[in-house]
Amino acid sequence: MDKPFYESLLDNNKKWVVEKLSENNNFFKKLADGQNPHVLWIGCADSRVPANEITNTNPGEVFVHRNIANMVVHTDMNMLSVLDYAVNVLKVRHVIVCGHYGCGGVKAAMTNNSYGIIDNWIRHIKDVYRFHKDELDSIDDEKNRFDRFVELNVKEQVFDLAKTSIVQNAWENDQDLQIHGWVYQLSSGIIKDLDINFKSNNELNDVYQLDF
Ligand code: CO
Repeated sequence: MDKPFYESLLDNNKKWVVEKLSENNNFFKKLADGQNPHVLWIGCADSRVPANEITNTNPGEVFVHRNIANMVVHTDMNMLSVLDYAVNVLKVRHVIVCGHYGCGGVKAAMTNNSYGIIDNWIRHIKDVYRFHKDELDSIDDEKNRFDRFVELNVKEQVFDLAKTSIVQNAWENDQDLQIHGWVYQLSSGIIKDLDINFKSNNELNDVYQLDF
């Protein structure tokens, strides 16, 4: 009888260890000494968008936070803790919000369906729709509207990152920290840079700019 899928994960792990050691005898020894990633990745929990794999990076290179629809929710202690650790302890130079076309969370926000408790998470994505309602409603083709909604959601999450006290504090202290918005295309494997880059809080609406 075939092993259950979850057991094959343990076998695969052992094969991976052998492979890594054959490439570099010190692979795990070096990683055990500590991490020094230059990038924080905020991505979708979708199983098709694994941060390291699609960026061809190794363990130790990318600090990762993932949730449904790559959201930056200002009351989310999990996200805030990851961001604080990445910025203030690891001193990452870049934070990347990476969405993806075909995102189920974003799709759900375009409907009035109720999916249970997750409706309360999806609501944050619905806010993005409301902010950009005129533009989105003017797109007749549903797929194009969905794609644009994914991009606008990434854009708003980049703004939400810039609004956090953590990021604004880093800029106030002249820390070299840039934030970016990207979108991954499932059908091609290509990441598109949306060219939304922040290096200071000057680009934020004044109501969000914090004086320290
Ligand atoms: Co998604």
